[in-house]
Amino acid sequence: MGKVAVAFAAAAVVAACSVAGVMVRRRVKSRRKWRSVVEILKELEEGCDTPVGRLRQVVDAMAVEMHAGLASEGGSKLKMLLTFVHHLPQGTEKGTYYALHLGGTYFRILRVLLGGERSYLDVQDVERHPIPSHLMNSTSEVLFNFLAFSLERFIEKEGDGSSSQGVKRELAFTFSFPVKHSSISSGVLIKWTKGFEISEMVGKDIAECLQVALNRRGLDMHVAVLVNDTVGALSLGYYHDPDTVVAVVFGTGSNACYLERTDAIIKSQGLLTTSGSMVVNMEWGNFWSSHLPRTSYDIDLDAESSNPNDMGFEKMISGMYLGDIVRRVILRMSQESDIFGPSSSLLSEPYVLRTNSVSAMHEDDTPELQEVARILKDLGVAEVPLKVRKLVVKVCDVVTRRAGRLAAAGIAGILKKIGRDGGGGITSGRSRSEIQMQKRTVVAVEGGLYMNYTMFREYMEEALVEILGEDVSQYVVVKAMEDGSSIGSALLVASLQS
Ligand code: BGC
Repeated sequence: MGKVAVAFAAAAVVAACSVAGVMVRRRVKSRRKWRSVVEILKELEEGCDTPVGRLRQVVDAMAVEMHAGLASEGGSKLKMLLTFVHHLPQGTEKGTYYALHLGGTYFRILRVLLGGERSYLDVQDVERHPIPSHLMNSTSEVLFNFLAFSLERFIEKEGDGSSSQGVKRELAFTFSFPVKHSSISSGVLIKWTKGFEISEMVGKDIAECLQVALNRRGLDMHVAVLVNDTVGALSLGYYHDPDTVVAVVFGTGSNACYLERTDAIIKSQGLLTTSGSMVVNMEWGNFWSSHLPRTSYDIDLDAESSNPNDMGFEKMISGMYLGDIVRRVILRMSQESDIFGPSSSLLSEPYVLRTNSVSAMHEDDTPELQEVARILKDLGVAEVPLKVRKLVVKVCDVVTRRAGRLAAAGIAGILKKIGRDGGGGITSGRSRSEIQMQKRTVVAVEGGLYMNYTMFREYMEEALVEILGEDVSQYVVVKAMEDGSSIGSALLVASLQS
């Protein structure tokens, strides 16, 4: 071999070695990046861990905070608001009633026809529309004019514009935000939640605002009750089954109410003359306990939200926020590795990933996870390999499992407070026999997260059995109440007339 040939051969060997070197280095680098992503997932799993022992601590904390909130005004992060609802619908109500429900994402209008017996409940003309986003930070006048206008159009469809009974139409206003009531039909807004920001409305009487707007449009309607959505759900639950004593909403936001003995509402003794019971709106979205498993994603989400340091529990368990927690985890993974390809600026946009997309990815049962691929593509993340899509599903699972399990702990906390958890409860004057005798207890549940996200629902129900044990959970029935918040509040108006 000539000198030139030797030099060529040597150069070829060097080139081959360096190509191989580059490939090995790339493989090592890509493995290192994958490992860092797996680390992020592991850290998330640890941070969101909810073993039953921890859930029981949350149960106890919930029951203790309920007591504190009932004992004194401002005694707890749980406001435990009076609703002045002493009686729930019995099933004998008659007549035609209307309901308007302002929720977090939708508003609904419906008419209910009641024939005097439980089996005669006819829900007519349910209208459900997304709340136009500009209304969320408009003015109270703009918001209420819009609601009055929507009611007017609804009524126009009935025909002659006057009530078929020749009397004023009785309307229930379901308002899914915290209100300090002075009666069943009046109360002022305490604060906004779920991204609403119309600051001049805080402190205003909500029912009056609606009544004024209705009068302005010449509508022959009377705002007969103002209720929280949880109270509506409880009313429908009770109408169908008088063992219903608790109602919970898992929707854009989350909250619970329950039937409490008036003598246990210590902060209002002297004010509440009616003996018996009253529905208490807990506003549990604001519950907080050091036992809640909080991650850096929750801390950042809270700090960047429109209501920092507020509604901590809601931000871990409700539909408005689950998508954004998942987005934050994926964003971090994409920043610390290139497994999602070139970084997408869309992923940095708050709330761009909605919880219904999380549910669609989580429940994607196609072998290639095509739904996950489609949703990631909409987020500007195109063509990631199957193992990355699987990783995204895992993130959805961890975040939703924590939410479902904490939601169950919240419910068990209420059961504990009212002595229906099979244990001693926190007694506050309850007799021993009352505690020991396990009663059938129905929990009415409403809200899009619960209704539409099967995995959330399953995790919640499974954890409830885990916390209460098989024996006690036989007595606890969780019942879905579709549109309960609106239908139930119309029933409440009916029960006031009868
Ligand atoms: C509100 C509650 C409401 C819940 C569910 C929360 O953000 O504060 O009043 O019941 O959302 O809609």
